[in-house]
Amino acid sequence: MADTDNNPTPVKPGDILCRLEEMTEAESRVFLLQFDDGEEVEFFIVRRGGAVHAYLNNCPHEDRWLQWEGDSFLTPEGGTILCQAHGATFDIESGQPLTGPALYSGCLTRVPIEIAAGEVRLAPR
Ligand code: FES
Repeated sequence: MADTDNNPTPVKPGDILCRLEEMTEAESRVFLLQFDDGEEVEFFIVRRGGAVHAYLNNCPHEDRWLQWEGDSFLTPEGGTILCQAHGATFDIESGQPLTGPALYSGCLTRVPIEIAAGEVRLAPR
């Protein structure tokens, strides 16, 4: 994958990612999922309406991170997820490619999360 200047927050399965009320509409945040066996993988969450969606930080077009830096996973107007490498866009709610070179490469890979009592939590493994 491409090298970026990310600074993701490390989390483990079952951890609380944030309170739902802390996220504004069409805000995205990146995390580093760390498993007990040492495996690590980046993912991000994005809020759309009352829901939060989570996907691996991996573009199906060329197996790259989606963003250049930080928490910037969305188009400027916030309507879709954007891969900064070649400009592919993805639907926030389904992860399906909408435009660009990822159209025939498949969807973003969803990461299981749970929302309960106003908390957004990574699902236990
Ligand atoms: S790597 Fe994402 S559009 Fe090419």
